[in-house]
Amino acid sequence: MKKIVILISGRGSNMEAMIAARDAGRLPVDIVAVISNRPAAAGLETAARAGIATHYVDHRGFAGRDAFDAALAECIDGFSHDLVVLAGFMRILTEGFVRHYEGRLMNIHPSLLPAFPGLHTHRRALEEGVRIHGCTVHFVTPTLDHGPVIVQAAVPVLDGDTEDSLAARILGQEHRIYPQAVRWFAEDRLRLENGRVRLAAEPAADSALISPGIV
Ligand code: GRF
Repeated sequence: MKKIVILISGRGSNMEAMIAARDAGRLPVDIVAVISNRPAAAGLETAARAGIATHYVDHRGFAGRDAFDAALAECIDGFSHDLVVLAGFMRILTEGFVRHYEGRLMNIHPSLLPAFPGLHTHRRALEEGVRIHGCTVHFVTPTLDHGPVIVQAAVPVLDGDTEDSLAARILGQEHRIYPQAVRWFAEDRLRLENGRVRLAAEPAADSALISPGIV
């Protein structure tokens, strides 16, 4: 069974969705650790209650990004793992860190990338007047909120939506597609071809490659 380390910075609801999927038998992974850059992240307590090893590496104790990322990598690599899952981890990572985990570092971003990389995605979507918004799970590359898309989910933007109502609608989709993407990784079904993600058919079906799309 594949082993994953989850990185969080706050409440950790995506992490909780993975724990719930694992417990329901829908996510065949061993969650070996949850690590935060914030000692007070609420998600650390949730993980500990679920019996998962928790750690923090407080970014405020480091002079710069290189030193912090080196300490974070040391903490992660203290656990045998196959995949590192960024779940609301609110730190920009250095190129060296990203390269170290190339092809085994996933992120979820609350927009339909490449639209709205960076912060305040829901506010910006409302300001732009887009009618469709969503979330993206992708492999991480050194460019912020960029990298081969694994899966996306779209939601309508409704008249009268606020940042909060839009965020809530999208969060529901995040909790659906992130465990799904990690499951595909756990099943060895994700392949990178020319910078694109290809999803292999389920083992029981024929082995043709199909495109992951909007689910
Ligand atoms: C999510 O919206 C995620 O897409 C973004 O940060 C938020 C984290 O929420 N990167 P949670 O900590 O998983 O509840």
